[in-house]
Amino acid sequence: MTAPLRVVQLSDLHFSTAPGGYGLRDTSETFAAIAADVRNDPPDLVVVTGDIANEGRPEEYELAGAALEALDVPVFCLSGNHDFTDAFHAHLPRPGIVAVRSLRIGEWLFLFGDSNDGGLVFDPSDGWVDHPDRMELARGGIHDHELAWLRRQLELGAAAHAMLWLHHPPAAPGMFTQLEFDAQITALCDTTTSTATPLRAIGAGHVHTGVEGVIADVPVFFCPSTGVCIDFEASRLMPPGYRRYEFRADGSIGAEVVWLDDERWNERWPLPDWAVEYLSGRLSEEEMNERRARMRDASP
Ligand SMILES: [Fe+2]
Ligand SMILES: [Fe+2]
Repeated sequence: MTAPLRVVQLSDLHFSTAPGGYGLRDTSETFAAIAADVRNDPPDLVVVTGDIANEGRPEEYELAGAALEALDVPVFCLSGNHDFTDAFHAHLPRPGIVAVRSLRIGEWLFLFGDSNDGGLVFDPSDGWVDHPDRMELARGGIHDHELAWLRRQLELGAAAHAMLWLHHPPAAPGMFTQLEFDAQITALCDTTTSTATPLRAIGAGHVHTGVEGVIADVPVFFCPSTGVCIDFEASRLMPPGYRRYEFRADGSIGAEVVWLDDERWNERWPLPDWAVEYLSGRLSEEEMNERRARMRDASP
């Protein structure tokens, strides 16, 4: 029997060199602790599902690249809304760290999709380029040409099973819900019942949490952030985390979340009311900022 393919998913690294960094936690420090945990039981490969840099700046990718290199296993990256395309491609890839569109390994086809539609604009001379407000505008969406490409890969029948990696998860909770995106992924999942390579699951980040969802009968694995995470059901902060997978030759997948219960970050503070209401979609960003400002003004 073929040994399962062992994969670690890291997401939402948010490396930062800005004064004050990412805020709340030092993401270089949390990443170093996650990396040590990964190296204790090295996988066959690592997939990084975006928001690698916090502000998409070259120096953030240099920092991230060096940190990922130290994992000492092949690393496959895709970009999130916090990643800016030119800097991502110019400063992150290096031997052993690549940003590819697909990977065939054993019985499995890994597809690395771009869910940043909305944060991209078409420039007649440059093609698809980042909108200056990509961070805000890329909230989960797939352009028709990307969807067609994904479907084509599943039709080609290059492997027995497929796994789709994205930055934004479909079937996301609260303020992260994107109905049009969910409809696009549902359409893709629906067609794969008849494609040569069936889509077995989707792995994504962006939401900084570790739950499992489902869309059109396809499981969706949400990956925690290696920095700051949230338990949406309990409305509390969580330690940094990541996911470990086993991809088996029969198409089944084992998936688990690893929380880094290091004493530096194992506090599970309840989130303030304004954050809970914002994250659940009951407050707009503007209303949340007003509420926070009122609280700041009222505090001594
Ligand atoms: Fe993120
Ligand atoms: Fe994101």
